[in-house]
Amino acid sequence: MIPKDTIQTIIETARVEEVVGEFVHLRKRGVNYIGLCPFHNEKTPSFTVSPAKGIYKCFGCGKAGNSVNFVMEHEHYSYPEALKFIAKKYNIEIEEEEQTPEQIQQLNEKESLYAVNEFARKFFTEQLINTEEGKSIGLTYYKERDFTEKTIEEFQLGYSPDRWDAFTKEAKENGYQAEFLIKTGLTINKDGKHYDRFRARIIFPIHNLSGRVIGFGGRILKKDDKKPKYVNSPESDIYNKSKALYGIYFAKSEIIKKDNCFLVEGYTDVISLYQTGIKNVVASSGTSLTTDQIRLIKRYTPNITILYDGDAAGLKASFRGIDMILEQGMNVKVVLFPEGEDPDSYARSHRTSEVEDYVTSQAKDFIRFKTSVLLEETQNDPVKKAGLIKEIVQTISLIPDGITRSLYVKECSSLLEMAEQTLMNELNKRLREKFKKKSQFSPPEMEQENLQEFHAEKQIEIDINDTEYQERDIVRILLNYGQQEIAFKDEDENGHPIEVPVEVAKFIINDIRRDSLSFKNPVFQKIFDEYVEYIDRDEIPDENHFKNHEDTEISTLSVNMLLSPYELSENWQKIVKIEVVTEVQQLKKAVVNSVLSFKAKMIEELIFENQQKLKKTESEEDVMLLLKEQQDLKQIGRIINKELGRVVTK
Ligand code: CTP
Ligand code: MN
Repeated sequence: MIPKDTIQTIIETARVEEVVGEFVHLRKRGVNYIGLCPFHNEKTPSFTVSPAKGIYKCFGCGKAGNSVNFVMEHEHYSYPEALKFIAKKYNIEIEEEEQTPEQIQQLNEKESLYAVNEFARKFFTEQLINTEEGKSIGLTYYKERDFTEKTIEEFQLGYSPDRWDAFTKEAKENGYQAEFLIKTGLTINKDGKHYDRFRARIIFPIHNLSGRVIGFGGRILKKDDKKPKYVNSPESDIYNKSKALYGIYFAKSEIIKKDNCFLVEGYTDVISLYQTGIKNVVASSGTSLTTDQIRLIKRYTPNITILYDGDAAGLKASFRGIDMILEQGMNVKVVLFPEGEDPDSYARSHRTSEVEDYVTSQAKDFIRFKTSVLLEETQNDPVKKAGLIKEIVQTISLIPDGITRSLYVKECSSLLEMAEQTLMNELNKRLREKFKKKSQFSPPEMEQENLQEFHAEKQIEIDINDTEYQERDIVRILLNYGQQEIAFKDEDENGHPIEVPVEVAKFIINDIRRDSLSFKNPVFQKIFDEYVEYIDRDEIPDENHFKNHEDTEISTLSVNMLLSPYELSENWQKIVKIEVVTEVQQLKKAVVNSVLSFKAKMIEELIFENQQKLKKTESEEDVMLLLKEQQDLKQIGRIINKELGRVVTK
């Protein structure tokens, strides 16, 4: 744990132009710096760094943040890693906070597990290279599979001898406690007797992101129907199977470079492809693909290509994987290998260039892939074909981005020779169902004529929270003007009119709180909650609090909102300045307006929900209640809108 004030010191010391300057060539322009954006390809610089504000923003791709965000984004670091990086640059010493005995115990325990694994890794290597059994059995096996010495060394492959407790005995003699040997799973405890999990197997160590060994896989040498082909380490404090990816440590830099990640099934597929020069490859090995594994890949690239051997079971499993990847907003392609081949066998029997050609030429986007597989099954049976369409549309509906969705609908329509509109209708039905489930609120049924010229972009607008715009405006005003005062008219005890100053943040927060309203956008709500906390202590957080927030969602959002373009570019200045000046001068109007608009929108939504309920209700009594509620809501709505009209036109 890095102590709070050290974090503060690091943030205060960091000069954004210096930190960014380590990675991007910056040129001074006016009060700011500009350069080519490192997050997207561009020829003319739209990446701007503002030393005064301590932030960067790219007007091309929209990425923005403070020094810490930059290092996190650019180097794929976690928050503490980024802080440490900056601390090192400025020679700031980090004295990690003292930890509780439990924390120490936990940490020591984890370290002990790593130590045991490291000892085991060396032991298995030693057995492979320096023992007769290892050489004659293990090395021979690797040779038969065409694994080179370099590969064996790089992946730290090993061999476990054909004895009950060779490893356990050796480890104990070297002072490792049985407790940790058992917790890593290397040693199995049966009625107090300790023996090795891995016996007479070739060993694949599994590494975490930083290259430490977190577990092992052991493959049997000869086919044996009585024994499992693979034995794997169980989960432990350092090995979480749903979060680990075999090969990620070796692949990560190449994944970034190639902006794509190949996903295969097994250890040997990873190693053979790597050996042939295709190094951006990982395996989920053993478990079926998980969301955490996909997110791990997403840290390095938005593109995944799944490599499958073409058996039926593999196909079905790939469908599930495709859906999960799409749900994460990533792009997915699929490569099928010829009958009887897998990536490993293909890589061994072909030249590197042939393998590369194969995976690029055969890569099909998921729509083509899924359609062709399913079409083969349906064979012109109309009922089955209807099912197929539903299944494909279901998959498209998982894609978070509306524009991407509409592109796939287009492709799908030409593949299936079906009207785009029919598919779009089906898709909209899905989206509505999904949306209803999520928010208990269903957007209006589309009118038939609207449907004719329906665009996916419109669908996005319906998808997102309806109050999003109003919520955003309130948060923007809070962040920009929260500490400024606006005056309200009141009377003193003698009935004389006076002006009472109130801070903007206090006014907004209390007003919204009074009506028990909340924001739908979770990040806005988090910011709101923090304001509440501060205001209850009679304080108001300043913009730095949110700009440098440890929650990157909050900090990047705040940076974006705090940045009026006129402060960044002189050209923009002339255009936008007038608007900004107006807002500052008429702050009170802007503040009151923002809250009222939010409320008006909320009421509108409640009325709509009420109407939906009315449509569904059959009981006479409920209808009466709902109608009464409807009246009340409309009355409140009228009052708010009247008020709003006054504010706007005043
Ligand atoms: N696996 C496992 N337990 C098994 C079989 C398989 O944990 N009994 C996991 C392993 O991680 C393996 C992956 O599933 O790497 C894929 O299985 P398979 O294709 O059978 O193994 P390969 O690694 O491809 O091994 P080989 O090439 O030697 O067949
Ligand atoms: Mn295989």
